[in-house]
Amino acid sequence: MIQRREALLGATLLLLAGGARAADPVKIGFLVKQAEEPWFQDEWRFAETAAKEKGFTLVKIGIPNGEKMMAAMDNLAAQKVQGFVICAPDVKLGVAVERAAKRLGLKVMSVDDQLVDGAGKPIAGIPHMGISAYEIGKQVGQGLAEEIKARGWTLAELGALRMAFDQLPTARERTQGALDALKAAGLPLANVVDAPQAKTDTESAFNAANIAFTKNARFKRWVAFGMNDEAVLGAVRAGEGRGLKQEAMLGIGIGGSQTALNEFAKPNPTAFFGTVLISPKRHGYETALMVYQWVAENRAPAALTLTNGVLMTRRNQVEVRKQMGL
Ligand code: GLA
Repeated sequence: MIQRREALLGATLLLLAGGARAADPVKIGFLVKQAEEPWFQDEWRFAETAAKEKGFTLVKIGIPNGEKMMAAMDNLAAQKVQGFVICAPDVKLGVAVERAAKRLGLKVMSVDDQLVDGAGKPIAGIPHMGISAYEIGKQVGQGLAEEIKARGWTLAELGALRMAFDQLPTARERTQGALDALKAAGLPLANVVDAPQAKTDTESAFNAANIAFTKNARFKRWVAFGMNDEAVLGAVRAGEGRGLKQEAMLGIGIGGSQTALNEFAKPNPTAFFGTVLISPKRHGYETALMVYQWVAENRAPAALTLTNGVLMTRRNQVEVRKQMGL
């Protein structure tokens, strides 16, 4: 009798789980393109919170390139993981991710960088959570325009350094938003200088900004913006190397993780004026939770979730971080 009841219960759980074997402990993977970047470490940390709350195991793997990404997905399947969150090293690997996940029987959702197919269109079968890139970019541009005014600078005399990583749609949209806001404030288009980064880290940004400064020595004052804090920080460090310090340069990043906080903690303000704080808590905790619910309760995530941001400077950092639950 007891045995029969257990068998029945097992069958019910199996049905509820909708495919995943209810007897297996739930394991969720979390793959990120740049594990050394504070933003991604924060995402992992918040995903761990979800794992603790729901009692699943989180498997974290850094995937700096396509080869490592493919190996990581096999690795997840071998560890009996049932689903994973991914921020891929290149969004054009979308079809490869979708195929591998299907072949390995893994549920997959993307975070931060939305995966695309061969034609550059988002892959419909992979739910996504990302930032409202264009809007957040506009907040950067508006923040810069306000501080330009507060300093009594004129837009016509300023070089506007766009740290560019245009192969990544979210990066392009972010800098486009910033540029449009600056144009609306009166920035002449001829003052925009592109600094294409080879990669999305501070070192690549530093190198790109140095080249741009060398080629455009006519500007004595600069504003800088880019896809993330690392991009703007690279520009700020390159400026410092040329004597363009806080009095001559102004940058606003996107992120608000340790990269920005370290700058704000310096005794003397640098040209890194602010950042638009986005939420690693939402991106880490909620995506992990969504994939868990998909695996354990057969509840699929929303197709698209876009998160917002708030302008954070040295002055308001404590309140703003509190507001975001950080
Ligand atoms: C991209 C960037 C990260 C971070 C996230 C936020 O992945 O590379 O630095 O800005 O977007 O979604």
